[in-house]
Amino acid sequence: MEPKDVEDRSRRRLLVALGSLGALWAAAGLYPVYRFLSPQPPPDPFGKQGKAVVEKISPAEVARPGMGKNGGYAGRGLIVFRDAGGQLKAFDAKCTHAGCNVQFQGAKLYCNCHGGTYSLDGTNIAGPPPRPLTELRVFEENGLLYVARPTGSKAASHG
Ligand code: FES
Repeated sequence: MEPKDVEDRSRRRLLVALGSLGALWAAAGLYPVYRFLSPQPPPDPFGKQGKAVVEKISPAEVARPGMGKNGGYAGRGLIVFRDAGGQLKAFDAKCTHAGCNVQFQGAKLYCNCHGGTYSLDGTNIAGPPPRPLTELRVFEENGLLYVARPTGSKAASHG
C-alpha cells in the first residue's frame, strides 16, 4: 500500500468520525426543541380531585325545573339546567360541529354559529352537529356546583 493511500484512508476515517460526532451533537441539541414543539395531550379539566367547580352558575339559579344557565368550568363552556323531572343536568357547551358555545334556550340547546340544535338530553336533532353534546355529572357540595366526568367515561378530555 502506498503512503498516500494510507493517508487518504486515515483522512476518510477522521471525516466519518467527525461527521458522526456532528450528527450526534445536532440530534442532542434538537431534541428539546422537538419536545417543546410536539403536541401535548390537553390537561385533564377535572384534575386530581376528579371534579371541577362550576363558574357563573349558583345552585339557586338552577333550583327549580326549567331553570338553566350557561357558565363554565376549567376554562370551558358549560350548560347546567334542571329538567322537567327535577334532575340537574350538565353538558360541556362545546358544539360538536365546529366548537362554538352552545346556549341553553329553555326547551332546547342551540348553537348560534350555524344553527345546530340539540334536545335537552344533548342529542343533536337539527343542523350540522354530527354528534351529541358531552354530558357531565353535576352535583352540589358545600353550596357550590361541581361537574365531573360521567362514571365509566373519558368524556370531555378533548381540547
Ligand atoms: S359550530 Fe355549532 S353548528 Fe356549527
